[in-house]
Amino acid sequence: MHSVPTWDPEQYLRHAGHRSRPFLDMLGRIPHLPSGGRPPRIADIGCGPGNVTALLADRWPDAHITGFDVSREMLAQARKDHEGATAGGGMIDFRQADAAHWTPEEPYDLIVSNAALQWVPGHPESFAAWIEGLTPGGTLAFQVPGNFTSPSHALLGELCDSPRWRDRLGTHGRRYIHILEPGDYLVRLADLGCDADAWETTYYQLLGGEDPVLDWVKGTALRPVLTELADDPAAAERFLGEYRDLLRAAYPPGPHGTVFPFRRIFAVARKVS
Ligand SMILES: C[S@@+](CC[C@H](N)C(=O)[O-])C[C@H]1O[C@@H](n2cnc3c(N)ncnc32)[C@H](O)[C@@H]1O
Repeated sequence: MHSVPTWDPEQYLRHAGHRSRPFLDMLGRIPHLPSGGRPPRIADIGCGPGNVTALLADRWPDAHITGFDVSREMLAQARKDHEGATAGGGMIDFRQADAAHWTPEEPYDLIVSNAALQWVPGHPESFAAWIEGLTPGGTLAFQVPGNFTSPSHALLGELCDSPRWRDRLGTHGRRYIHILEPGDYLVRLADLGCDADAWETTYYQLLGGEDPVLDWVKGTALRPVLTELADDPAAAERFLGEYRDLLRAAYPPGPHGTVFPFRRIFAVARKVS
C-alpha cells in the first residue's frame, strides 16, 4: 500500500506563476455559464492552496466557489489565504473530499480541476456522474500534466526502480500516470453527450536559480518519495543528491536560465442542454 503523499503548500507555491498560466489558458476556453440570473455555482476539484480557485472569482465575481482537496495541509493554506467573501459579492469556501469518490452534492454550473486529476486513478470513470451533476449548459473543464515521459519524470521512475532504491521506493516515481491522451478525453466526453474540446500545449518554461527543475519537482512529483523517506532524512538527502545530478545532466542551465519543457493536456466539455 502506498502512503498518501504529504503536500507542502509553500514549496508548491514557489512556482505559482508558471503553474497558473495553463489554468488561465483553460479559463479562456470556458463558455458563459448558464446561471440564469443567479450567482454561478462552481466546484474546483483538487484545489490545492486555493490560488487558482481565487482566479475563478475574477471571471465570475459573484459566484459561490467551493474548492475540494484531500490534503489537510493544502486546505489549511487555502482557507488562510482565500476563504470568505469575494470583492464581487461572491464567496469562496473549501472542503475536504477525495476526488476518487466525490460526486456533486448539488447542481454546479462549472466543475473545474487544474493539475490534480493525474493523482486520481480512474478519474475518467467519474465523468458521467460529474456531468450528471452539472446544470444544463454547464461545463466540466480540466487540465492535467502530460509530461510523464519527459526526462524529469522518466529519470525519477528509473532511480526509484534502481537496485539501490527499489526495495524502499518501488513504483513511487511512477505511481501517478493516470492520464489519458487528449483524443481519448475528447471521445469520452463527447460520448457523454457534451460539446467537447481537447488539446495539448507544451510550455517552454525558463526557470531561474540553481537546480530549478529539482525545486519544481519537489512541489509535485517528488511528494510520494519525500513522504516515504520522511523518517530517514539521510536517505532523503542521498536520493535528492542522486536525482539532482541526473537532472543537471538532462536540463543544463543556459545563459538565460534552465529551459524546462512542460506538456499539458486540456479538456473543456459543455453539457448540451
Ligand atoms: C499539483 S496540486 C494542484 C493544486 C491546484 N489545483 C493548482 O492548480 O494550483 C494537486 C492537488 O491535488 C490534490 N489531490 C491529489 N489527489 C487528490 C484526490 N484524490 N482528491 C482530491 N484532491 C487530490 C493534492 O492534495 C494537491 O493539492
